[in-house]
Amino acid sequence: MHSQNHYPVMLNEVMDMFAQADIENPSHNYLDGTFGRGGHARALIDRFPELSLYALDKDKEAIEHGKEQFAQRAKNKKFFIEQASFASLDKVIEDKHWPAKYDMILLDLGVSSPQLDQGSRGFSFYHQGPLDMRMDQRAPLTAEEIINYWSEEELVDIFRDYGEVFRPYNVVKSIIRERKKGSISSTSDLSGLIERSVGWKKKGKHPATQYFMALRLVVNRELEDLKEGLQALMKRLVPGGRLVVITFHSLEDRIVKQVFKTSEYGKPVNKKVIKPTREEELENKRSRSAKLRAFERIIEQSLKQEFDKRHGGRHE
Ligand SMILES: C[S@@+](CC[C@H](N)C(=O)[O-])C[C@H]1O[C@@H](n2cnc3c(N)ncnc32)[C@H](O)[C@@H]1O
Repeated sequence: MHSQNHYPVMLNEVMDMFAQADIENPSHNYLDGTFGRGGHARALIDRFPELSLYALDKDKEAIEHGKEQFAQRAKNKKFFIEQASFASLDKVIEDKHWPAKYDMILLDLGVSSPQLDQGSRGFSFYHQGPLDMRMDQRAPLTAEEIINYWSEEELVDIFRDYGEVFRPYNVVKSIIRERKKGSISSTSDLSGLIERSVGWKKKGKHPATQYFMALRLVVNRELEDLKEGLQALMKRLVPGGRLVVITFHSLEDRIVKQVFKTSEYGKPVNKKVIKPTREEELENKRSRSAKLRAFERIIEQSLKQEFDKRHGGRHE
């Protein structure tokens, strides 16, 4: 059994960000770069019924769900969906003749509840399953391959750099020892091994949390996609258009903050990061680590002036 529902995080904040944008065209082009189960998309359609929805997701199941959910809109040529990373938007635009510019773009990063809850996807140590963790089922690299074939040094590096584990040595040594006896192939093999190597340090936080996070980020090239994707997406906004990004990991938020601050295409909408309300955090535990940042494309003629003002005339 797995849940097919995904609670859209910071929905009111996302809606406000788009509703306050200075866009003249009422029949907006909305690009959802991380469609998931279409929770945010559905709410935006309710708010802006005329909009055309262009959706991307790496996950085949999200695409199938989207096609079913918005079949009528698709018939009316108001809904288009492709299985691709938002980092390859330029290619999708070229291949599928999608619009070159969008009024609203949303990235709600990470995994969806249905992905987490399905043991067979291998994302969670709470569900027994293969060590897979691929969002895109066509991708060649799985977590199992990393755990069983990557070198000791590479494992230390990914757990330190992506999982922010200060000393991953004991866990890595246990992995190397264990895999000599036979392959480590399930989520419970790995989470059990980590639990035995380092034990529980913090009540309520499974010791495998950061290790699983690191593997997921590497398997799906999440940070790399984000860096490349933000650049590609900012260029695709109409003047006054907005790009809203929700992150769940400090490394991701750091990237978004930096890219928005130094972009020559526009400026951040909010100086301070926006977080979920206390009520939302209580209602949906997953929202607790969420952070929202928004970016606005500047009207063309004022682009250079604004950039010079912020950077003292320096161009990168
Ligand atoms: C948190 S969920 C999005 C939920 C969605 N906003 C909703 O309300 O239903 C994240 C989704 O983004 C997808 N995803 C993550 N990184 C992606 C990328 N680089 N390109 C396309 N899809 C991505 C995942 O497969 C997952 O379905």
